[in-house]
Amino acid sequence: MVWTEGSMQTRSMRGKGDDAGGPRHVPVLAREVVAFFAALPRELQEGWIVDGTLGLGGHTAELLDALPNARVLGVDQDEQALTVAKERLARFGERVRFARGRMSELDELVQREAIEPVAGFLFDVGVSSLQLDEATRGFSFQADGPLDMRMDRSRDRNAADIVNRWDESDLADLFYYEGEETRARVVARAIVDARRQAPFLRTLPLADLIARAIGRGGHQKIHPATRVFQALRRAVNEEGDELLEGLSAAGKRLAEGGRLVVISFHSLEDAEVKQRLSEGAARGLWKLLTKKPVVPGRDEVRANPRSRSARLRAAERLLPIGPERATRPLSQGGRP
Ligand SMILES: C[S@@+](CC[C@H](N)C(=O)[O-])C[C@H]1O[C@@H](n2cnc3c(N)ncnc32)[C@H](O)[C@@H]1O
Repeated sequence: MVWTEGSMQTRSMRGKGDDAGGPRHVPVLAREVVAFFAALPRELQEGWIVDGTLGLGGHTAELLDALPNARVLGVDQDEQALTVAKERLARFGERVRFARGRMSELDELVQREAIEPVAGFLFDVGVSSLQLDEATRGFSFQADGPLDMRMDRSRDRNAADIVNRWDESDLADLFYYEGEETRARVVARAIVDARRQAPFLRTLPLADLIARAIGRGGHQKIHPATRVFQALRRAVNEEGDELLEGLSAAGKRLAEGGRLVVISFHSLEDAEVKQRLSEGAARGLWKLLTKKPVVPGRDEVRANPRSRSARLRAAERLLPIGPERATRPLSQGGRP
């Protein structure tokens, strides 16, 4: 399953309370996300929910509108997203705080913000409309821009570094494992041949080369560069590791009865979330609230085609946070 662009519904959409203008990211499975947090135990209803992938603040706005006692710490690694979200969410005043950071830094961020006990964690992983729509960010294979793809622009390595420096077999593995591109070796060979003439610095020349290497007939429904671009984006932003670290922070910082909601758009990510939560459930750390992933209904997919590949999983934290748990090894039910 792959993330697709072109199907995103973004620029012209305005929503409830969306009086700040600017780009709009339609929050996916928003009703379901709100319902999971609305069912928090009474003692946690005034607790903080950590939105670890704030983006343009779509889910956070829905939560703050629907749950009058909720407060949200909105975290994103993308400075541009935070600027837009701050403006958009200003009407909620002190009910919302903002922090720039990565999912892998959430454990420290929660401590620094002194918001425990934490009632919820929300992760809506992947790329935002803002990132995808702005050619200068370099995520798009349909609009020419620098071959960048960094969500956090302070990262040292961008997509051009990978495309121009990795050897052929590493590129092929990346495209196959992170992009599920079955013609990974053909693409890697074509890239290595072409970069001998000149390095790849822009998105469109790379997308064109991939299209020529794979041929238009390869993938019927999606642009031929979709999977390779997805793999590059995941590597640049270390998305696999980030998700695992985020899940770990949630396991560590959620109060007993607190809830974790994760929306992913990639089969590898959904499988990872499923496995982590199932392992935790087997050890009595999580109660699974979704045996199967929740997926968008037909109406949502029609209104927002981007939601098509979304998968939501939710779980409730079972054990109290306490010093004794911190020292217990995993095999004896310690923190995940
Ligand atoms: C799909 S968008 C979230 C959209 C948001 N839920 C909304 O309704 O507006 C994903 C956002 O998560 C951010 N992000 C992705 N991985 C991250 C990570 N590891 N740490 C922090 N932010 C991350 C991206 O920069 C992007 O802004």
